[in-house]
Amino acid sequence: MIQERVQVRYNTIECSGYYRMGLTCHSDYRRAKPGQFVMLRVVDGMNPLLRRPFSIHRLIRSSAGAVEGLEILYKVVGTGTERLADCRRGDGLNLLGPLGRPFSLPERPAQVFIAAGGIGVAPMYFLTETLQKKGFDISSCVVFIGGRSKDDLLCMNDFFAIGVKTVNITTDDGTAGEQDVVTGPIERAVKEGRPDVIYACGPLPMLRATARMARRYDIPCQISIETMMGCGIGACLGCAVSAAGGGDKYLHACVDGPVFNAADIDL
Ligand SMILES: Cc1cc2nc3c(=O)[nH]c(=O)nc-3n(C[C@H](O)[C@H](O)[C@H](O)COP(=O)(O)OP(=O)(O)OC[C@H]3O[C@@H](n4cnc5c(N)ncnc54)[C@H](O)[C@@H]3O)c2cc1C
Ligand code: FES
Repeated sequence: MIQERVQVRYNTIECSGYYRMGLTCHSDYRRAKPGQFVMLRVVDGMNPLLRRPFSIHRLIRSSAGAVEGLEILYKVVGTGTERLADCRRGDGLNLLGPLGRPFSLPERPAQVFIAAGGIGVAPMYFLTETLQKKGFDISSCVVFIGGRSKDDLLCMNDFFAIGVKTVNITTDDGTAGEQDVVTGPIERAVKEGRPDVIYACGPLPMLRATARMARRYDIPCQISIETMMGCGIGACLGCAVSAAGGGDKYLHACVDGPVFNAADIDL
């Protein structure tokens, strides 16, 4: 884990309310894994005081392959993300990372389903790119992207660009793709051919529905959850999630997650 002052390399609008920010970072981020996150804060001033968590969307490499930076994809929802959106190239930010438990990759060739709801797509590109770099047959990987509206659908072409052949799109309002929740086409695809694993990130209702479906069909399912986080390192106890099985056992999303086996937590 490294705490450093980093510089903004770029900060561009992806679509209304969504930004893509490139940051310089320590070369040790070459060890960062998909599903891990960083805690980020605007350096000047005290508002907001706390860092905010963001998934690593991808690593930025030199032409020789050395890690020179990382990219985050973010949605503006409040003070912290508004301040991030105001950042310009060369501005300084305080970065802590890489943090948290990553996705576990399959040990052998596998049929993989990747499900992303809204900004939940952020860690899924890094996951897919890593699978591709590790030699998995990415053309058999099926990606499901859902959003409230067409403006909430991100990264479709990025998945195609690295070799994914099937990207299913759903929107709540029907402005793009099928009008459905993202779990609709996932369940239909499961009925046609059961995958070896489902990876999912998105809003809680989507994760809940995905986890229930995976349990019904007995499919291993890993989910990345986005709780509120104060510290990101296990010190503030602000990110507790209930462990499965009832009782009063809690897990901490920042150190035990953010990626969990869906069966291990009570959603
Ligand atoms: C491990 C992890 C990875 C994340 N990765 C990304 C990412 O890649 N891109 C991205 O855009 N966001 C991501 N988030 C969510 C992001 O951290 C929050 O949107 C951000 O902290 C909001 O800060 P803010 O100061 O702008 O908003 P605040 O002023 O803190 O909050 C504004 C509103 O958003 C709600 N809110 C804040 N944080 C969350 C949250 N985590 N879940 C649900 N509602 C929330 C608040 O209740 C409030 O209503 C991630 C969260 C976690 C825990
Ligand atoms: S965010 Fe502080 S303990 Fe998890």
